[in-house]
Amino acid sequence: MTEQKATNVHWHAGDISAADRGRLLGQRGATLWFTGLSGSGKSTIAVALESALFARGHLCYRLDGDNIRLGINKNLGFSAADRAENIRRIGEVSKLFADAGLIVLSSFVSPYRRDREQVRALHAASGFDFIEVFVDVPLAVAEQRDPKGLYKQARAGKIANFTGIDDPYEAPENPEIVLPSAELSLAEEVALLLAALEERGLVAAATS
Ligand code: ADX
Repeated sequence: MTEQKATNVHWHAGDISAADRGRLLGQRGATLWFTGLSGSGKSTIAVALESALFARGHLCYRLDGDNIRLGINKNLGFSAADRAENIRRIGEVSKLFADAGLIVLSSFVSPYRRDREQVRALHAASGFDFIEVFVDVPLAVAEQRDPKGLYKQARAGKIANFTGIDDPYEAPENPEIVLPSAELSLAEEVALLLAALEERGLVAAATS
């Protein structure tokens, strides 16, 4: 747990609640957390789901490892401690955006179970749904796809601490959803996720 450094600080509540904001938007704020190896398809699935939800009138926001590391987390690398801080910060940001009423689509390798469980606990403590989506592909498939050429570089010893090569990936033990992305089409994956959101009452069922 990260230490609370500032003293004499107190939460200042407003008059409008997360439920009020959700009613305005016709949805309930929540976080879908995509975890899996680099190249597993997390970001691709999040992009497709965002479009499908947008077409149905829902406001989402994507938080994506690469994008976040170009901005708010540009001071973090890939040591276990930096990855923990990356996930801690984005867990907090996800919770804030869920509180804002948004459906948050967070895509991070997030290789450590403990870091993900802390984000889950953070959401549970505030009553927000946290849906862990394990994008599950064999390392060989991710490595063969190698969309950014990073596995090749890691195998050649040009990138250290690369997840799946010389750094661990701890698969979720009880994820809400598993997407074997080498066996499903993108459309099938989006349909499964939409059904899960409907089932939880986060979005209304499609009318047509
Ligand atoms: S996490 O482990 O802290 O969750 P995050 O999702 O933010 O990682 O960033 C992972 C992305 O950074 C990968 O998709 C890949 O493009 C890039 N990357 C660069 N170096 C590494 C590395 N050593 N391990 C994993 N991903 C890396």
